Amino acid sequence: MNKFSAETFGSHFPISPHEISTKLNVPAGIAKPPYALTGEVPPAPHAVTLQKPEVVNRMREACGLAREVLDLACASVEVGITTDEIDKIVHSALTSCGAYPSPLNYAGFPKSVCSSVNEVICHGIPDSRPLLDGDIVSFDVSCYLDGVHGDNCGTVAVGNVDEAGHTLIKATKEGMMAGIAAAQPGSCLTAVGAAIHEVADKYNFSSVRKYCGHGVADVFHAPPYVKHFRNSDECMLLPGMIFTIEPMFVEGNQASTTWSDNWTAVTVDGGRAAQFEHAIVITEEGNEILTLNPNNPIP
Ligand code: MF3
Ligand code: CO
Repeated sequence: MNKFSAETFGSHFPISPHEISTKLNVPAGIAKPPYALTGEVPPAPHAVTLQKPEVVNRMREACGLAREVLDLACASVEVGITTDEIDKIVHSALTSCGAYPSPLNYAGFPKSVCSSVNEVICHGIPDSRPLLDGDIVSFDVSCYLDGVHGDNCGTVAVGNVDEAGHTLIKATKEGMMAGIAAAQPGSCLTAVGAAIHEVADKYNFSSVRKYCGHGVADVFHAPPYVKHFRNSDECMLLPGMIFTIEPMFVEGNQASTTWSDNWTAVTVDGGRAAQFEHAIVITEEGNEILTLNPNNPIP
């Protein structure tokens, strides 16, 4: 039995760094975002953009593809598959549709998807570690298609996961959906954080404060920055705003640390994390979830 909170937070051993394979190639014909060659992310705009219908149309395509490939990544999960193998599946699915995998070389990120196992909160790098029976794993799939980024994330169970793990996954998705329901034209961004926080409280999980949702379209990460906890940020939501809602819930304490790879964010106490993410657009009537898969009508 490992001494790292194994009894409290499922039966897994702590996640440790494994081998990272060589960088994958993106075919020359695929349009790349500005950071793709250098790894340098240009400064984000300071104000929130109200996107035109034409941009919303392109976002529907990019987000729809991101969602289809997220569903493919989740469906590829089985005991023994490595996250590196899933990265290759995501990379080839996106590039074969003419899309650039947004994470690849974003601020130097070395892979095409983020894969975050058990106590990894987010930004896990796919590697040679096989998924084990009892793990939970999230995939954050994002892609650049026709000049805009689609972005979404989901968490699945590997084999037989304990009840607490299943509850964590269910609660996190419920938190995301409560945040989406609170995102209405004329309401305030604070309502989103409050709605998510309430769900975390109900299940006795912590909603992570360190990582936020974000505006997304031609720029990958832009204002508004969306806190998944009670806050007093004043931002009135208006039609044409496009942003993600992507809460991470954790068991235990949310204190976190980042590995020396400068990406992998893990809980200090070994509590597991789950994450769900949709990209939405505020409309005149309410909002529209952009990251939907027509073949899988469940949000
Ligand atoms: N897709 C993530 C998000 O939800 C960001 C990943 S950036 C990466 O915002 F470089 F880490 F991949
Ligand atoms: Co995001």
